[in-house]
Amino acid sequence: MEDVSLIDLACGISSALDYISPTVTGHHRRVGMASVMFGSHLGITAPSLVDLLLAGLLHDIGAFSMDRPLDGLGFDSDLEEHAVVGYRLLRDHPFLERASRAVLYHHTSWRDLRVIRQEGDRETLLMANIINLADRVDILRRVGTRKYERKDVERTVAGFSSDMYAPEALRAFTELVDNGIFWALMEDQEMPVRDLLSRELLDVRITPDQLIDFSGFFTRIIDFRSRHTATHTAGVAESAVLLARFAGMDEQEQKSMRLAGNLHDIGKLAVPTELLDKPGALEKDEYVRVQDHATVCAEVLRSIPGLGEVADWACQHHERLNGKGYPLGLTADQLSLGSRIMQVADVHTAITEDRPYRKGMSREQALAVLRSMAEKGFLDADIVDLVIDNHDHLDAVRSMVQSRALSEFERFARGIG
Ligand SMILES: [Fe+2]
Ligand SMILES: [Fe+2]
Ligand SMILES: [Fe+2]
Repeated sequence: MEDVSLIDLACGISSALDYISPTVTGHHRRVGMASVMFGSHLGITAPSLVDLLLAGLLHDIGAFSMDRPLDGLGFDSDLEEHAVVGYRLLRDHPFLERASRAVLYHHTSWRDLRVIRQEGDRETLLMANIINLADRVDILRRVGTRKYERKDVERTVAGFSSDMYAPEALRAFTELVDNGIFWALMEDQEMPVRDLLSRELLDVRITPDQLIDFSGFFTRIIDFRSRHTATHTAGVAESAVLLARFAGMDEQEQKSMRLAGNLHDIGKLAVPTELLDKPGALEKDEYVRVQDHATVCAEVLRSIPGLGEVADWACQHHERLNGKGYPLGLTADQLSLGSRIMQVADVHTAITEDRPYRKGMSREQALAVLRSMAEKGFLDADIVDLVIDNHDHLDAVRSMVQSRALSEFERFARGIG
């Protein structure tokens, strides 16, 4: 594992967010990039531009943890709420502290921001308002229930009042609309963000240790979407690290395993919460939609250069040694020790925790299932033996970590955390 670019990481997360519905595909990327264009046009410089880009790429993250449909203008009704939830999800991490404040105010009118502005930090509030405008432009043009022609977007924005948007943000829009790149960016579904950013922005890198620390943030955004899976990631990561240790992996590999565990279900950002929470069996097409999370995981993590084997360990957790897993149906010779550990950690955690449609299994039942999966060639028998031999230790640590995660989730859900 090497250093990774903070921007690549944020682009990866935002692309996972954008998978959730075809109507919002690319929304976060377009808003992030348009915000950077407005910001640099207005003279905002490099360190602040990084925060602006991060905030733009993640601005609606709060809507994903609230069971809210993000299609069209549906999310206009929860403006305040998703902005506050997004702020609370992001603010605890030093990399995202400033971006979190921009997210908090990304639907606040410029008139209301005037009051807050007196307390200083004018630039962050301007950044929030820039995101607000970029968001509105993208909703008018592509995301809303009524999609506007480009000239209608321009006419509509020209009519916006400076009560709602900062006069300089409106000016940036007017001065950039004739710039070919701006509309190319707003129209395009695929344009890679990297190609448009200066070296200065791309060179903000984080070390593997910082990344592992940062990855705790992913467990929040992935798990807090559903009460029923609120502690799943934490449990899998902890079990995987312990199994890695029992299997003889060194300290560095155990750290990589923690990161992989924290990231393994990142693709679930792309699965609607009603499927994650569904009591009872899934219909066939719903099951396919849930299985997609493994493909999304691979697409997202492979887009972040530097993760190395962590991407495989994380994204192959539903592959099986006998080729009966998904998404690729890989076989034993293609699955490394790290991936095999993650498979066992994921199954063991999943069958022992309560789900909306069933209670968690007892120790005896769970071990019987693991044993039979090993016998039938689904899971690695040596790793299953490690679970059996160390079961009490493994279970004690995992349940401690999961109950800590649960109280964190409950504080968050009550609005304290
Ligand atoms: Fe929003
Ligand atoms: Fe948005
Ligand atoms: Fe999974």
